[in-house]
Amino acid sequence: MTTPLRYHKALVALHWLMAIMLTVALFIGSVILVDIPNSSPEKVDALRGHMIVGIVILLLTIIRLIVRLKTAKPAPATTGNPLLDKVGYLTHWLLYILVFAMIGSGIALAVQSNLAAAVFMKTALLPENFQLYAPRLAHGIIAKALMALIGLHVLAALYHQFVRKDGLIARMWWAK
Ligand code: HEM
Repeated sequence: MTTPLRYHKALVALHWLMAIMLTVALFIGSVILVDIPNSSPEKVDALRGHMIVGIVILLLTIIRLIVRLKTAKPAPATTGNPLLDKVGYLTHWLLYILVFAMIGSGIALAVQSNLAAAVFMKTALLPENFQLYAPRLAHGIIAKALMALIGLHVLAALYHQFVRKDGLIARMWWAK
């Protein structure tokens, strides 16, 4: 198999779709959702949207991982520094791990607080608040770590594109 110049177009589509969905989920989760008290009638609707988006992100991440492993990818991009290149390689896998951890902690929180019954079946009430459950703490900490890692990922892409001028972003875009 020859080494392509770009990632597979399905992977490119999944990359940008997930970039948008993760940014929106992180923003809405930390800025809007947390500030709605569980006693408010709006909370159930907000949680339903958040949970559905979370599950869609899970499915897209699994599909993306399969496409990533099954398609040919371009040669590794280099910064000129072997240590930074290693950090870049690890960052990509850590992004997958944190997305799975985000969803895993969300699901664990939902199971412990009987959230599906409250949100989808309306056969239970929301708990007084989610802070009573350990996975809520994990979900919040992982969210901050994921935001930091996405920030680092964006900075690294900009460094490649504008400082090294190696056209890195074109590798994650569709061919003209
Ligand atoms: C990649 C997917 C997800 C992202 C990016 C995400 C993001 C977030 C963020 C940023 C927060 C606020 C954390 C904080 O500031 O402390 C939050 C809260 C929450 N998330 Fe998620 N989440 C995801 C998936 C899920 C899933 C799958 C579920 C449940 C099945 C879930 C249930 C919750 C609940 C119950 C809260 C607590 C809201 C509150 O404290 O009032 N999340 N999420």
